[in-house]
Amino acid sequence: MKLNSEYKNITKNIIENDNFKALKNDIHHGSTRYDHCKRVSYLSYLIAKLFKGNVEEVAVSGLLHDFFHGKTNDNDEISYVNHPKKSVENAIKYFELNDNEINIIETHMYHYILLKSTFPFINKKEKVNSKEYKPTSKDGYIVCLSDLLISIYETLKFKVSYKTSLYTLFIINLIVR
Ligand SMILES: [Fe+2]
Ligand SMILES: [Fe+2]
Repeated sequence: MKLNSEYKNITKNIIENDNFKALKNDIHHGSTRYDHCKRVSYLSYLIAKLFKGNVEEVAVSGLLHDFFHGKTNDNDEISYVNHPKKSVENAIKYFELNDNEINIIETHMYHYILLKSTFPFINKKEKVNSKEYKPTSKDGYIVCLSDLLISIYETLKFKVSYKTSLYTLFIINLIVR
């Protein structure tokens, strides 16, 4: 992905941070959480440019929105509902964030909360107050939307490449028999 120099300047200190780079070890939607965060950040940055949002704050919080290790079903602290708080907790250990950036990260799962309130059978165990997860700024909605779009893109891409590999193996197996 070719990133423009303004974006690179905004995000350089995070991208080059070793603790952030450690996200390369976490698998997320068939790619790494490091790549997922970069994609969400860059798309947020582009949307913020288009809709006159705060490009710096969405780029930074987009990068840090999933700053945690492990899988969302590993433990309660990093569940679907709770991982935004864990991401903030980790992010402020290494970077200075303002209130808007913290709020953007804390509310980035609003798309999931809406889905959960529309279909209550989804993850019944976790009770949430949807108001708590509602973004308080345009920037929050931008990162939330980018996260949703990138997650759909990554999941579809992963499923297609997974199925293609399976079919290829199946065909090779038939040929070399
Ligand atoms: Fe997330
Ligand atoms: Fe995400």
